Amino acid sequence: MIVIFLGPPGAGKGTQAAHIVERYKIPQLSTGDMLRAAVAAKTPVGVKAKEVMDAGNLVSDEIVGAIVSDRIEEPDCARGFLLDGFPRTLVQAEMLDEILAKKGLSVNAVIELKVDEAALLDRLRNRIEETKARGEEVRADDNEETFAKRLGVYSEQTAPLIPYYEKQGKLRAVDGMGTVEDVSAALDAILDPISA
Ligand code: AP5
Repeated sequence: MIVIFLGPPGAGKGTQAAHIVERYKIPQLSTGDMLRAAVAAKTPVGVKAKEVMDAGNLVSDEIVGAIVSDRIEEPDCARGFLLDGFPRTLVQAEMLDEILAKKGLSVNAVIELKVDEAALLDRLRNRIEETKARGEEVRADDNEETFAKRLGVYSEQTAPLIPYYEKQGKLRAVDGMGTVEDVSAALDAILDPISA
């Protein structure tokens, strides 16, 4: 089962990914988490990516494509995987189709998590407060200015993937405005038949 999560920053991709991992026993491949690990480890990719990420822009398609292409070769991806935050551009979507086609695979479902902008901003503010309350460091791109930039990048570069996957008949829009449990239930209704 190969599933993609599409959605603007704060839509709940990471939150729902935890549910999917638990329910369907497939790994979450979050390019944001992988890039943040590279930044923390100061690898050559991390050093290149840091400034771009901190500004709310997208890391190059080549870098992210290579990371994903390597990751899906790992044994835990053999039964499928959830892509959280990839693809994010049409070039990445085409890269993914090519990588999968070489393995005789294709994407099963693309879930678009729909949340309005006011709710996204509320969630960002909550996440910042909760992170601070735990005594952890707030993400360098989690501030209102960079968040606005990330929303703009989503509309310009990632939203065109919606008609791309619609044409392939794979797009499933999910109302992401309900409680975490409501959204999980809506995902189960889509993914249970696919996983069966
Ligand atoms: P990435 O890490 O992917 O961040 P993002 O897409 O901006 O998404 P977030 O992690 O902010 O939000 P989310 O949708 O996961 O929401 P969450 O579950 O946390 O990317 C970061 C950066 O990395 C990019 O800007 C780019 O630079 C780079 N990058 C990554 N992938 C790339 C790619 N493919 N190409 C190029 N560059 C790439 O939820 C948010 C908050 O809301 C949480 O506090 C949560 O508790 C709360 N919440 C969740 N669901 C609900 C609900 N139903 N009700 C109320 N609150 C909720």
